[in-house]
Amino acid sequence: MKTIVSGIQPTGSLNIGTYLGSIKNFVKLQQKYSDHHFYLFIADLHAMTTPIDAKKLRKKIKELAALYLACGLERDNLSLFIQSEIPAHSQMGYLLQCFTYMGELERMTQYKDKAQKQSEGIRSSLFTYPALMAGDILLYDAEYVPVGDDQKQHLELTRNIAERINQRYGEVFKVPKPLIPKIGARIMSLTDPMRKMSKSDENVKSRINLLDEENIIRKRIKSAVTDSDQTVRYDKQNKPGLSNLFDIRIAITDESVKEIEDAYADKGYKDFKEDLGEIVVNELLPIQKRYRELLDSGELDQILDEGKQRAEKIAAEKIDSLNRILGLGRKRKQKG
Ligand code: TYM
Repeated sequence: MKTIVSGIQPTGSLNIGTYLGSIKNFVKLQQKYSDHHFYLFIADLHAMTTPIDAKKLRKKIKELAALYLACGLERDNLSLFIQSEIPAHSQMGYLLQCFTYMGELERMTQYKDKAQKQSEGIRSSLFTYPALMAGDILLYDAEYVPVGDDQKQHLELTRNIAERINQRYGEVFKVPKPLIPKIGARIMSLTDPMRKMSKSDENVKSRINLLDEENIIRKRIKSAVTDSDQTVRYDKQNKPGLSNLFDIRIAITDESVKEIEDAYADKGYKDFKEDLGEIVVNELLPIQKRYRELLDSGELDQILDEGKQRAEKIAAEKIDSLNRILGLGRKRKQKG
């Protein structure tokens, strides 16, 4: 069965950027690719690449698992699991480091950005992180990897590593293709529309978190930075703030730019923002309700156990076969 793989780090607060760029897209793709199996996971090993409190991490893992499900994922073609519960991820990450060059890792813009924010104690895992991510994907022979725009470079590296190994050892891995949504792949900060909305931004006004209260959601949109013109028109170059709000709206409602522009031909930003507040609230409140029901339910643990079981089996087989191909360990005796 063809597979689709993706993950999210359990760090910071899950915001509508991550939601529209990934989870909402997963939900849509589950319908489009109903004959594929989805391996979606909580990338907790990735969270170890920067300092994080152990108690906080454990809490975030559970919350993210509940949020994934609360956003409406179908269970039929899904394995939802926690990355660290499957040892093959760490093993694969190491093996792929052996096929990744320093120069390639040095070019990763996310590494450069994150390293720049820390003055000392930059973990070597932050540097080798793309090899771990490549492992997450190649373990399951993913056909597609749905991600936001900021993960494109990591995906390209994953493809290069897979092709490099295939060239040397034969067809070991499926070379995965990224699936980047047309709208919502890069939701920008509400306070600085030239920067990506980020869960680690110190300014809480820069984002809407999935669990924000209704009045906060409306407030954040109302105070989102736009320009001084009042014409509701999509123009990324000259109206980046307003265009970002368009993207948020379109990713939720699937309207066209023209439909929205026509609807606001005689109105200004105030109306547009108020309506967007309503749209986002209507999208997030049902998710919040399901989230609260799921968080402490036995159902969540059961889903994570089932996901683990299936993913563990596939991943262990892949590692076994890779070890053999690479000549690691001892030659197995023929059975019988
Ligand atoms: P992470 O946790 O930073 O983000 C999770 C997903 O959300 C997308 N995203 C956004 N999309 C649109 N606008 C934004 N402002 C925005 N912010 C985040 C990201 O592109 C991503 O798809 N390394 C990954 C997690 C990971 C992974 C993997 C993903 C680990 N292994 C294997 C795919 C396959 C990360 O840190 O994503």
